[in-house]
Amino acid sequence: MGGVSARAVVLAAGKGTRMKSARPKVLHELCGRPMLWWVLEALRGAGIDDVVVVANPELEPQLAPFGVRTAIQREQLGTGDAVRAALEALPPRDGALLVAYGDMPLVDASIFSGVRRALDPAAGVGLAMVTARMPLPSSFGRVIRASAGSQAPVVGIVEAKDCTPAQLAIDEMNAGIYAYDEAALRATIGQVGNANAQGEYYLTDTIALLVAGGRGVAAVVAPDHRAVLGVNDRVELADARALLNRRLCEEHMRAGVTILDPATTYLEPGLAIGADTVILPNTAIGGATRIGGGCRIGPQSRIGGATLGDDVTILESVVVDSTIGDRCKVGPFAHLRGGSVLAADVTIGDYVECKNAVLAEGVKAMHLTYLGDCSVGERSNIGAGTITCNYDGVRKNRTEIGKDVFIGTNTLLVAPITVGDRALTGAGTVAIRDVPAGDKVVGNPARSIAKKPAGT
Ligand code: UD1
Ligand code: CA
Repeated sequence: MGGVSARAVVLAAGKGTRMKSARPKVLHELCGRPMLWWVLEALRGAGIDDVVVVANPELEPQLAPFGVRTAIQREQLGTGDAVRAALEALPPRDGALLVAYGDMPLVDASIFSGVRRALDPAAGVGLAMVTARMPLPSSFGRVIRASAGSQAPVVGIVEAKDCTPAQLAIDEMNAGIYAYDEAALRATIGQVGNANAQGEYYLTDTIALLVAGGRGVAAVVAPDHRAVLGVNDRVELADARALLNRRLCEEHMRAGVTILDPATTYLEPGLAIGADTVILPNTAIGGATRIGGGCRIGPQSRIGGATLGDDVTILESVVVDSTIGDRCKVGPFAHLRGGSVLAADVTIGDYVECKNAVLAEGVKAMHLTYLGDCSVGERSNIGAGTITCNYDGVRKNRTEIGKDVFIGTNTLLVAPITVGDRALTGAGTVAIRDVPAGDKVVGNPARSIAKKPAGT
């Protein structure tokens, strides 16, 4: 079909009863994205973005973020009925119409491109479909061929629940990915009945109907059956997630990232990670995160929506919605969040929390500290146990600390407050008023112990 544009129908109206969930099946997440997202992404990758998703009335309002057309199937009468609902919503058009199920998150773009290429209406082919050899037993529909042998023409699909024992022994399955000649599908869909074990209108009955009408059915055998796994319950959801995660890890490993243990490294799509970065076990990286080269992330870390420079170390820490400059060291047990920004060569140590904190080059906060709604100038040292008291019970107030400041152990900075360049606070200081540049303060409330220049 080459140059002619194709459109696609994705079926997602099923009840997903086997998930035992209040949430629609196709909205369950794998690697940070809803199941349906993965299917739409694969279609987009195959150049198909004219998509209609068939939804039930409960799911339909939740599909707005996907930016697709929807068709409503009011009653879940089967996949054949779902396709009928889509065809009613679409103005008829000549050309290929892809049909896929929304519960196949592992299908990639090449499978969609392949099945689309195999559709050749000029040669009498009314449908190209994907099949896969799978280990038995299986709940998939069985592919019936005219005679033994993988080249024999496909003549029908029989659902597992309708199979004879002999048919159940067939190990070639219907993957559930179809490229129809739209006109042939429209001519056939109305003839699908529901006289079967489940009393449903099966889309899969169109295969025998097309063959009976003299149309050829081409089968494309998927190279790896795992790519067409359907997710029907939470066990399959876990299996699919592991496979998708492995795929994401492999992409980054092939691009130069060392991942010690892909099974316990949890990635999301769309991450940028530089070469020679090492990711240690039990680490989750997600959101719009960008990580430079030569970093060391983990173990036991969570990074979300963060930008990291080169040669950054994140050890057993949580970094969310924050930016970290080159060569910074964070952790163990640190928490950066709320738009915190670390310039280069900043050190954040054990049990330090930064929220909306902007730390200039060379700042050190090594132990047990809360830095919230504050800025800290170059090379300043924040002693163990320092707290920016940013919340007065009503509003959040700012703390501004200059450069080359020494904040002593256990200092409380009651915001709003400014500490000038080169100032010093002694251990245990409770500073409730601004500390001028160069001043030295101690005590509660803080008082200056700096020698006043003569004559003042
Ligand atoms: C289906 C196929 C089976 C194939 C398998 C591959 C049919 C009859 N069977 O079986 O041959 O081997 O997928 O995974 O097509 N849906 C609707 N409306 C409905 C019913 C289902 O939109 O009325 C949607 C579901 O949301 C789901 C998809 O269609 O995304 C497939 O339905 P499901 O019940 O999971 O079909 P399977 O039994 O897995
Ligand atoms: Ca299914």
